[in-house]
Amino acid sequence: MRLGINIDHIATLRQARKESFPDPVEAARECLAGGADGIVCHLREDRRHIQDDDLKRLRKLDTRLDLEMAATDEMVRIALKTKPEMVTLVPEKRQEVTTEGGLDIVKYSKKLKPMIKKLQRSGILVSLFIDPVLDQVKESAVVEAAFIEIHTGAYANAKSMGARRRELEKIFNATEKARLIGLRINAGHGLDYDNVAEITRIPGVEELNIGFSIIARSVIVGIKNAVQEMKGAIG
Ligand code: PXP
Repeated sequence: MRLGINIDHIATLRQARKESFPDPVEAARECLAGGADGIVCHLREDRRHIQDDDLKRLRKLDTRLDLEMAATDEMVRIALKTKPEMVTLVPEKRQEVTTEGGLDIVKYSKKLKPMIKKLQRSGILVSLFIDPVLDQVKESAVVEAAFIEIHTGAYANAKSMGARRRELEKIFNATEKARLIGLRINAGHGLDYDNVAEITRIPGVEELNIGFSIIARSVIVGIKNAVQEMKGAIG
């Protein structure tokens, strides 16, 4: 199972002081040295963390780049220019602290299909960040995305063992359906050193995209060690 590291929060720290450091590109290099299989960043409409110039510089690294972005014309233009290996389409609300729910593919199917086609025609793999809901999985195949990324936030935030088991079951069912209809699968959001093991046991998940827990851990042990520890947890 591959590990993609989301380095947004290195930029969050930099933007807190509007400084030139810490540099997310330097952090990305350290993540790769620690065993990361790819780098993920989210260029938000409000540019609260990653900036356009970060994206340009991240693209120059010798690694797989997954650009998380809202399904807007501005972002599609940027993606076509940057040409990351993968674009993950996510919902975006200005007031949210982090991406709160999956993208509603059923609702936005008509708008998404031509956007996905456009990105794919330029050689970019498209992944859709969705909740583990069967209708969303089915519609992801209808709009012809290659990948889905299953939102693991509800599982990660479950307050009781029962709730956690139920959320895990939803993820199992959604990934099983996805495999049956030929979708490839990533997963992420809210994963940490304690809750990641159960997700690694789900058949068919190719890559985990993890940010906050690793960046938070890196404050204590350094980012290379934090990534190595997560690689160890994934197995
Ligand atoms: N995957 C997607 C689509 C996301 O939006 C995020 C958060 O930016 C992540 C994964 C990583 O989540 P976390 O920072 O909670 O590990």
